[in-house]
Amino acid sequence: MSSNCDRFAPLDTFARRHLGSDPADIAAMLRLLDQPSLETLADAAVPAPIRLARPLNLPAAAGESAALAELRAIAAQNQVCRSFIGQGYYDTLTPAVIQRNVLENPGWYTAYTPYQAEISQGRLEALLNFQTMICDLTGLEIANASMLDEGTAAAEAMMLCHRLKEGTAQVFFVSAACHPQTIDVVRTRAQPLGIEVVVGDHNTYEPAANLAGVLVQYPDTRGDICDFAGFFAKVHAAGAHCVVAADLLALTLLRPPGEFGADVAVGSAQRFGVPMGFGGPHAGYLATRDACKRQMPGRLVGVSKDVHGNPALRLALGTREQHIRREKATSNICTAQVLLAVMAAMYAVYHGPEGLRRIAQRVRSLTQLLARALAASGARVNTGPVFDTLTVTGVDAGSVLAAAAAAGMNLRFIDARTVGISLDETTTLDDVHALLSLFGRRERQRVENQPNEAANDPLAGARGHEGISPDRASIATSTSAWNLALGTSSLELGPWNLELENLPAPHARQSAFLTHPVFNSFHAEHEMLRYLKRLEARDLSLCHSMISLGSCTMKLNATTEMLPVTWPEFGRLHPFAPAEQTRGYQKLFLDLEAWLAEITGFAAVSLQPNAGSQGEYAGLLTIRAWHASRGESHRNICLIPTSAHGTNPASAAMGGFKVVPVACDAQGNIDVADLRAKAEAHAANLAALMVTYPSTHGVFEAAIKDLCAIIHQHGGQVYMDGANMNAQVGLTSPGFIGADVCHLNLHKTFAIPHGGGGPGVGPIAVAAHLAPFLPRHVGLAPEIPNPKSQTPKESTGAVSSAPHGSASILAISWLYIRMMGAEGLTAATQVAMLNANYVARRLEPYFPVVYKGAGGLVAHECILEFRPWKKHGVEVEDVAKRLMDYGYHAPTMSFPVPGTLMIEPTESESKRELDRFCDALISIHGEMQRVADGRWDKADNPLKHAPHTAGAVCADAWTHAYSRELAAFPDARTRASKFWPAVGRVDNVYGDRNLVCSCAGMDAYGEPAKP
Ligand SMILES: Cc1ncc(COP(=O)(O)O)c(C=O)c1O
Repeated sequence: MSSNCDRFAPLDTFARRHLGSDPADIAAMLRLLDQPSLETLADAAVPAPIRLARPLNLPAAAGESAALAELRAIAAQNQVCRSFIGQGYYDTLTPAVIQRNVLENPGWYTAYTPYQAEISQGRLEALLNFQTMICDLTGLEIANASMLDEGTAAAEAMMLCHRLKEGTAQVFFVSAACHPQTIDVVRTRAQPLGIEVVVGDHNTYEPAANLAGVLVQYPDTRGDICDFAGFFAKVHAAGAHCVVAADLLALTLLRPPGEFGADVAVGSAQRFGVPMGFGGPHAGYLATRDACKRQMPGRLVGVSKDVHGNPALRLALGTREQHIRREKATSNICTAQVLLAVMAAMYAVYHGPEGLRRIAQRVRSLTQLLARALAASGARVNTGPVFDTLTVTGVDAGSVLAAAAAAGMNLRFIDARTVGISLDETTTLDDVHALLSLFGRRERQRVENQPNEAANDPLAGARGHEGISPDRASIATSTSAWNLALGTSSLELGPWNLELENLPAPHARQSAFLTHPVFNSFHAEHEMLRYLKRLEARDLSLCHSMISLGSCTMKLNATTEMLPVTWPEFGRLHPFAPAEQTRGYQKLFLDLEAWLAEITGFAAVSLQPNAGSQGEYAGLLTIRAWHASRGESHRNICLIPTSAHGTNPASAAMGGFKVVPVACDAQGNIDVADLRAKAEAHAANLAALMVTYPSTHGVFEAAIKDLCAIIHQHGGQVYMDGANMNAQVGLTSPGFIGADVCHLNLHKTFAIPHGGGGPGVGPIAVAAHLAPFLPRHVGLAPEIPNPKSQTPKESTGAVSSAPHGSASILAISWLYIRMMGAEGLTAATQVAMLNANYVARRLEPYFPVVYKGAGGLVAHECILEFRPWKKHGVEVEDVAKRLMDYGYHAPTMSFPVPGTLMIEPTESESKRELDRFCDALISIHGEMQRVADGRWDKADNPLKHAPHTAGAVCADAWTHAYSRELAAFPDARTRASKFWPAVGRVDNVYGDRNLVCSCAGMDAYGEPAKP
């Protein structure tokens, strides 16, 4: 009988919702594996020497409502002020139809990266819209499907310039009027590669012979709009390339970079409807000229055709990427910012070119009005053309900012006598009035005789947010400068009666943009809603069925976890807001850092990297800095097993390391002898080993502790790729195993959804000796208490534009850990292993399991063999496509072993769903057998023609030897609920040969597929 206490305990416990199977089903699965309990299974699978002796020390699990209430209280410690800080981040009005139907919609946010194009046409179309929008606005020919943020996009552009000069040029010039955080990220990226970054004034810079490229900001960080045409001509004459960091909203009014000589444009799409979120996540962008397309970084969506000849989209030019090119890849980006790119593109679809121009004109009009009023009241502001940003000099910045904060407003602190003000689409006339009232006459008189240091300092704009002056006491307001400016005592005249100047030549935009029908058809909300739903319906997501992608961990993204993402207390904070307004975020970070440190067994955590790949890079930089601090900066060899994910060697190359591959043995383990030999051979220069654990082969290698010891013995550090952390949490940990640093993919193990290909969060955790070298950030307010992970003297530079990366989605992982508790998290690991072993055991009679560990068990994923079927004419790709007819997304195909499928069911799938999936694969096995037996034609069978579209099945003509019913409804489940692939099998080669990466020219685009 239960005690009274039990009777009153909350009932909305979460772990039982997160774990797919109930105890009875778990018992049934354990029986198949001959295991009495989850504990014995874990004991059998995980090598004893690495098992943790104690449970994780985390707060006890909270129920769903209690955890939400706790987070609400934390969020309430954030103060939402009107933000006029700018510097690349602006408040925005997310159209409600986009917020509800994209950002808050699991149909969009639980989809995976669109590798299986036939069931991803919706988000591929949205990304093609994004690319088209970027090309149109920048005036360049090709754009990718999102970068991680503006700073890293600028760093990637620098690398592109470097590649275009075939790596010979050593200098990259950056205008001092770029955003400070961009300069910070570019500097970090350049340092390990020996590229010299010269920061200065573009008006006086003379291109050197070894110049790779230049970066300027447009409009610049102080708000000025410069004409770069002459400067760019000089740069081109020196054989270098020109990069413009441009504001997308401004480009609706301004001459696009492609029209004044830019070779590359980069920036952020944040202000197109994506909340600031204290710095992220947002989509960055990169566009360039057609001639550079094979050198460009990141994912690229291209138009191709399907087997029926209909237009079909897919990821293009994949051979540039790290999956194929490894350390020679154009970048290490894997997870990007798809969901946010979709939102930004939809914002443009919703508003259309005219709507965007009106928004921009309104922002500019308000800015001009404010400039004029400030100037009339005696303040010193920009004198040339501006868009949305003003720099006010000759003021007591501390007083102005303090007065602003008291009135619920944040301005940008530039230096003691200079503030910045940026307006955005949320700005009202009342805001302008309130801003103006901060610059009263008394305040001006007090400072106007003091020397204006900022005016003489060309780098002032690049110094960034250096904290608020301690002199906050004197608040300056006396007379209404507004009245001075308007010559009236009331606002009734309104600013709209003022004559506002048009942009002068050559700045005004003359060219049309967003002329494609998609940007001119869906401005009514019904039309928009139906367009969004039409695209959503083309994509298979976790709303339909399990997505068992090995290495990707597509677990439940619980609704409760997702709720805070759109709370304004998280969404509307500027990343450089004063620390006293961001106490809630600070608490969230400290909690999460402490919990992740406990889970990984490490001493300190940095939340800054905004994808797994960026975590790898950041982790390697900490190793690099540590070696340097010991006078061993020559250590540059990074050992990487051949089974590693492509991002590992790509990140190592970015960090300035030389990659040396290590062999794997027949069991899928790292070949210890080969590792030892390589470590010995390179002992003098050994920097690190990158190792994934459990391995990408899906096994717990028994020798992992020995591997770490070998590396340490030879002076190296062990980097653990934490993508497979879902098999470690609560049972073992990278720190306990003996690694020195690891990254975590919060978008795998810690419940952040994949968003159709991003956002991700890739924090790194490090042992104590590496803590001083964690990334810092030029914009990190010194008041933020983060003693473990921010020690500015020794640490590496910024690896993301925002100090805390994709801050707003950290609440998802916070809730996941808070609601699971130590017990729930450990159970999740055990059940993930149970599910993988259950699937392996059920399917093994049909498809051999390639690698197994102790006791014939796998870890949390298993690799199934399909290579023997090739001789019968059945490729693993045929199986992947046929699974779509059964309503499933294929498991990971041909990674890490060609001709295999890697299945990771995760703990969140029920036995019922696992059985359905296994039944589908067993049924497909029967089909394969028919081909092998010769009962079905090798070329004309349901596997070869999969996936089958509704159009193909309903066509008047049906020429196949098998029935339409078998094609479309191969099992009972599909008859009850059918997901129709939108297009037939996509021709990848055709698309790469005839590369089209924007909407233009797709005549049949948007039409229903023909058979
Ligand atoms: C083993 C492994 N390492 C690293 C990564 C890179 O992570 P991200 O895609 O977040 O950059 C992945 C991604 O799938 C992975 O599977």
